[in-house]
Amino acid sequence: MKIEGCVALVTGANRGLGQAIVSALVEAGAARVYAAARDERRVSADGSRVLPLTLDVTKPEQIAIAVRKAGDVTLLINNAGALNSFNVLTASPAEIDADFGVQVHGTLNVIRAFLPVLERVPLGGTIVNVLSLTSLASFPALGGYSASKAAAYSITQSLRPELKKKQIDILAVLPGPIDTDMVKDLPMPKTSPAETARGLLAGIARGDEEIFPDPLAQQMSVLWNKSHKEYERAFASF
Ligand SMILES: NC(=O)c1ccc[n+]([C@@H]2O[C@H](COP(=O)([O-])OP(=O)(O)OC[C@H]3O[C@@H](n4cnc5c(N)ncnc54)[C@H](OP(=O)(O)O)[C@@H]3O)[C@@H](O)[C@H]2O)c1
Repeated sequence: MKIEGCVALVTGANRGLGQAIVSALVEAGAARVYAAARDERRVSADGSRVLPLTLDVTKPEQIAIAVRKAGDVTLLINNAGALNSFNVLTASPAEIDADFGVQVHGTLNVIRAFLPVLERVPLGGTIVNVLSLTSLASFPALGGYSASKAAAYSITQSLRPELKKKQIDILAVLPGPIDTDMVKDLPMPKTSPAETARGLLAGIARGDEEIFPDPLAQQMSVLWNKSHKEYERAFASF
């Protein structure tokens, strides 16, 4: 799809990757960007084309209000994410529920609510789900989170044929580690949010169904294509 002139909505837009996606969209010529956040006062609206919007993706009443306020969206980017559950043997049910609440139920509820809006887009709307390399195989140190990202990937695949009939594309973004608050305590090579955001937009522009937006993700995608088992073992060895 063409980014220039689009009307985008980005969830979790107040920091990290979401904030970088908003800046990259403005730079690429988006007509308007709804920067959605749990606390819209924390959104840096660095231009008249950025409109802060209150949206906790786990709150159906806020989703309904967001749909009314942002009824002209052509590109929906589900970026909001949470990391509460680590080792699957020791994570509490509440921690696992918290990750599934945002990654799975939150994303799905936002998509369901915005479908009527995206169906009205003359040349077809686009949905982008920010997932993770852990959607393809578990990173055991983040086992509960990995399971939620794998479930979100499965839902993305489930929706694809349904949405195709409505001329809506749904794309999965599978980044490697990004230098944000989420993984600040994990010592590993990371890509900057700005570089990841640029790779993400390039993938949207190409219409890639699976977008590997950073160099590490691209490297891992080669391994994934070669052998799913080797990919799983590479993650397990960290
Ligand atoms: N960092 C990585 O290494 C990495 C790698 C692969 C994929 N990802 C994915 O990239 C996306 C962005 O993550 P990040 O690295 O930028 O993490 P981050 O810095 O922790 O930011 C997470 C964002 O999600 C928002 N959020 C959390 N729960 C929410 C909810 N219930 N409703 C609305 N927004 C909510 C946060 O809002 P608050 O400020 O209100 O908490 C924040 O804006 C996530 O989907 C993450 O899983 C990250």
